[in-house]
This record gives sequence, structure tokens and C-alpha cells, in this order.
Amino acid sequence: MAIILLALLGAYLLGSIPTALWVGRWFFNLADIREHGSGNAGATNTFRVLGKKAGTFVLLFDAFKGFAAAYFLPNWLLSQGVIAPENLFYFRLACGVLAVVGHIFPVLAQFRGGKGVATILGMMLAIAPATVGVALLVFLAVLSTTRYVSLSSMTAGLAFALLQLLPPFRPANPLQVWFGFLLAAMLVYTHRANIGRLRAGTESRVPLWGKK
Ligand code: G3P
Repeated sequence: MAIILLALLGAYLLGSIPTALWVGRWFFNLADIREHGSGNAGATNTFRVLGKKAGTFVLLFDAFKGFAAAYFLPNWLLSQGVIAPENLFYFRLACGVLAVVGHIFPVLAQFRGGKGVATILGMMLAIAPATVGVALLVFLAVLSTTRYVSLSSMTAGLAFALLQLLPPFRPANPLQVWFGFLLAAMLVYTHRANIGRLRAGTESRVPLWGKK
């Protein structure tokens, strides 16, 4: 039982690693990325404030946090005989969600983290990669037409949840469908400031293919 609790705590702490904040501090001498751009400690704002290389690193590492928590951690518990094979799925969900919660409310950064997009992406890659693949296409379609990352992220999150209702993407365990909607709702919650800016017409667009 103690090992399970430690693993759950580990998943939260892994998610808590404030990648954007530390990349800014360690490599760009930027005290707090949350005081720049959109104010978010996430990949999009890192692209915006610190450039492509830093943004790509933050995107990949934040996604890795979700993937590692939902894939490697439960696999390790299984290999140690701490959990039974029939419980592996539940631990993937629990550890993944705890990493996402850690990313959004990081104990290592005054509980002010990112919006959870990349970490949810990584978590769901470990659980439902095919559905994530289609949701990513939705993300790219919305991004290429609107150039709003926030809108694309929310739409992809909702698409992921809805796709799971369709036979080809229907998961073996219906709990996964509920978690899909829970995570989509979480994305809407974390993007509430973006929603306000989208409604006011002041949300910033990302430059794509030379468009400014
Ligand atoms: O990474 C989250 C993204 O969907 C929006 O980020 O910085 O534009 O608020 P941002």
C-alpha cells in the first residue's frame, strides 16, 4: 500500500516539474515566464516568449511527464507485483490524471502551472494512441484555419472525448470515456482566460507559414 501511495505521489510530483518556468530561469535568465506573454507556464507561451527550440523542448518534456506517469510508473508497479494486471488500466488513469493535476497545480511552482494540454496528450498517448492521433489531426486542422492554439487545444480535447463514443475508438472500459470528458472539461476550465480573450477578439494568433 505504501508503494502505491508513493507511486501516486511520484506521478503528481513528476507532473509538477514546471518545465517552462525552469527552462526560462536556467537557460534564458528569465525569472518567471508567467510574467510574460499570455502568462502561462506552458509550451505555447514558451514558443511565444523564448522561441522554437525552447518551446519544442517544453512541449516534449511536458508530454513526457504525462506519458511516463501513465505508462512507465504503472508498468513498474506491475513488474514489482504491487498491482494485479487487471488493475493496470486504473493505475494508468490515476497516475496520468495526477501528473496532469501536478502540471496545472505544481507544488514546485506556487501551484501556478500550465493548462495541461501537452501532459494530457502524453497521458492519453499511453492509453489510447489511435484516438490521440485523430484528435491531433483535429488540432492541426483548427490551428491551420484559425491560428489559435487555445481553441485548437480545447477542440482537440472535445474531439478526443467524442471520438471515444464511436465504435472504432470505443475503449474496452467505459470509465475511459468519462475520463475523456473530464479532461476535456478540465481543458475548458484551464483555458477560461483564453475563452474570454477569444470572445473579446484579443486572443493572440500563432504565426504559421509566414503569416503574422
Ligand atoms: O498551451 C496551452 C495553449 O492551449 C494556450 O496557451 O499561452 O496561448 O494561453 P496560451
